[in-house]
Amino acid sequence: MARKFCFLLFCAFLALCQRLPAQSTAPAKPAATKPTKSVGQAPAPPVDAEGHQWWQHAVFYEIYPRSFADSNNDGVGDLNGIASKLDYLKKLGVDAVWITPCFPSPQVDFGYDVSDYEDIDSMYGTLSDFDQLQSGAQEHGIRIILDFVMNHTSDQHKWFIDSRSSRTSKYRDWYIWRDGKGPNHPPNNWVALFGGSAWQFDGKTKQYYYHYFYPQQPDLNWRNPAVKSAMFDVTKFWYSRGVAGFRLDAVDTLFEDPELHDNPVLPGKNSYGDLNEKNEYNDKLPEVHDILQGLRKVADNYNAVLIGETWTSDVQELNQYYGPHGNELQMPMDFMFTKVDKLSPPEFRKQIAAVDGAAGWPVYVLSNHDIERSYNRYGDGKHNDEIAKVMAGLYLTLRGTPILYYGEEIGMQNNNPKTKKDVKDPIGRLGWPNEKGRDGERTPMQWDNTPNAGFTTGIPWLPIPVSYRTHNVDTEQKDPNSILVFYQRLLALRHTNPSLLEGDYVALNKNDPNVMSYLRRYKDKAVLVVLNMSAAPQKVRFDLEAQGFSSDEARTLLTTMPGVRDKASLSDMNLAPFSVYIGEATKPARSSNAGN
Ligand code: GLC
Repeated sequence: MARKFCFLLFCAFLALCQRLPAQSTAPAKPAATKPTKSVGQAPAPPVDAEGHQWWQHAVFYEIYPRSFADSNNDGVGDLNGIASKLDYLKKLGVDAVWITPCFPSPQVDFGYDVSDYEDIDSMYGTLSDFDQLQSGAQEHGIRIILDFVMNHTSDQHKWFIDSRSSRTSKYRDWYIWRDGKGPNHPPNNWVALFGGSAWQFDGKTKQYYYHYFYPQQPDLNWRNPAVKSAMFDVTKFWYSRGVAGFRLDAVDTLFEDPELHDNPVLPGKNSYGDLNEKNEYNDKLPEVHDILQGLRKVADNYNAVLIGETWTSDVQELNQYYGPHGNELQMPMDFMFTKVDKLSPPEFRKQIAAVDGAAGWPVYVLSNHDIERSYNRYGDGKHNDEIAKVMAGLYLTLRGTPILYYGEEIGMQNNNPKTKKDVKDPIGRLGWPNEKGRDGERTPMQWDNTPNAGFTTGIPWLPIPVSYRTHNVDTEQKDPNSILVFYQRLLALRHTNPSLLEGDYVALNKNDPNVMSYLRRYKDKAVLVVLNMSAAPQKVRFDLEAQGFSSDEARTLLTTMPGVRDKASLSDMNLAPFSVYIGEATKPARSSNAGN
């Protein structure tokens, strides 16, 4: 009995720890301008009896800073804007925010072209604003994750300015310079992801430099140890300011074949008119893993987490990013999940089973600043709000860590540019009309139903869709049936229910084409998640005998269906179209089990 009590006390202590950022890694209250000294330390103790780390219990939230909240009304969001919304994030149930690049940048790729890794762009504020945001977030129990653009810098970074100045300059070998094959003939056939040749001729030194993305984003030469050392130092700079980890941008493309073999050409052309090709020689080269292992060693000194922008085509590829001994990325994102772009239980089952069996902890995302919003991808035009709740019911109850994209919780929709001249994202102008760019998923957060959705009193940098009148934080907060209130309730449940935090994933009724259902099983309890992904009412029954849950009823925890009682029958469950039912099944007490 005493042992049991001690164990419970221990669990309560761990549960408390899990809600607080690690005090030893971040300053208690960083001074506005003085960074805290970096302190190396042993890996942090787990936050629960299962050995999980903080990021396995956390809910992450991606903020695109241009679009979140504009404190100085210049039409572009900023760090003080984010700081003013910490109460909102806390109430939503967010434990960590990933802020996409807010460093000095010419903004060709809206911040993914960094010209100084150790400062804040004046459009977003100052380093001191960052420190204040960090300390405010810490007071709210929210960690800050920054975006680390590793593959390339801006062409306005001082390293590149020096690099292009002469063939013998100090930083020449920090980038990838090569002779062409002849006049107007780049070194090989590699095509940039954002259109055209991946090689840009530079008249001054009469060589080409390599860029996987825009020409204004020259690739760093990660084979040069000085690059590695300078970039590793960048992470230490931010860790010492209290940052809890990084989302690593474009990790797949850090290395290129030094012999520059041509990529195999595939049939057809892309939206920019270039020949399609297989990125055999400039994508996912094995050397990437040495760098990730090195970054992980640094991160471990700070109890920090590394999230990867890992575009993988199967789980074998994903597994490589966890590292051979779990010594690379703790959280490589599962983008394969975003490719299941219809409400199809069989396809979700397949994808989830694969990732649930991966070598590391699953990481689920629905949308981000490069992917059309889930509201549009899954919505049928009639039941979009219900469908948004079904999707929340799915990715927030799986075993793994979810990363929410800002605005998903209020059902924000894509607002694609109507004409080419409206497009801000350069790839949208280059690829119009096939490729409209990514403006649509990056529009300002909708805070209320006043003009400009309460984002700014200036002119917002991107237009806000009219749906802001109904889909905004203020209006939805007052409506118990809104998407926002559903997210809040679901995240509150996720944070407190041991089965949702720790339980395994067991697919149920695997042949049902309309209803996705599964258990999250932990000790003598299980959470049953039932999602009707169809427009018709459905009747389902569950036999949980094999899982040891022989009771005929579940205790209702959360549902989108009005009128559902405290208990629901497992042998005869009626589901409304596009609905969510979440309930708890318990094992029968030992005495009633006696005859089994
Ligand atoms: C990543 C970012 C994307 C950016 C690209 C180039 O894919 O998510 O927004 O354009 O890297 O940095």
